[in-house]
Amino acid sequence: MILVLHGPNLNLLGRREPEVYGTLTFEELEERLESWGSELGVSVVSRQSNHEGQLVEWVQRAEEEGFRGMVLNPGALTHYSYALLDAIRAQPLPVVEVHLSNIYAREAFRSRSVTAPATAGVITGLGALGYKYALEYLVALTG
Ligand code: DQA
Repeated sequence: MILVLHGPNLNLLGRREPEVYGTLTFEELEERLESWGSELGVSVVSRQSNHEGQLVEWVQRAEEEGFRGMVLNPGALTHYSYALLDAIRAQPLPVVEVHLSNIYAREAFRSRSVTAPATAGVITGLGALGYKYALEYLVALTG
């Protein structure tokens, strides 16, 4: 079981700045996550929150909930949430950070991820496929 966490504003996918994030809606992304999971033989649970504390609690509890890894797109929290950084560090599961857009090709403030140092790695700029590759990696790593 793999947990995919989506941070603030990702519920607006498809409607939000489509020239940056594409036209795939959040609901369609969740369908893709489920079908990629079934191709890989793993169940995928997807959760979105606009609240930092909720994301911190999901990260904290993932191991006891029975997950073997996490895919995390922290949204803008990527760039300033030391609470999420600490939460990732405080738990044992591998985390892959994913961004739909290329955070290095945008405003300067986006080119720093404060959460990345606590993760196994980062996939940025590959759109929804980034989630697929992150799932593949986590299955290979923990399978
Ligand atoms: C994002 C990039 C962040 O800078 C931004 O705040 C987001 C989405 C991405 O997926 O490209 O909300 O994480």
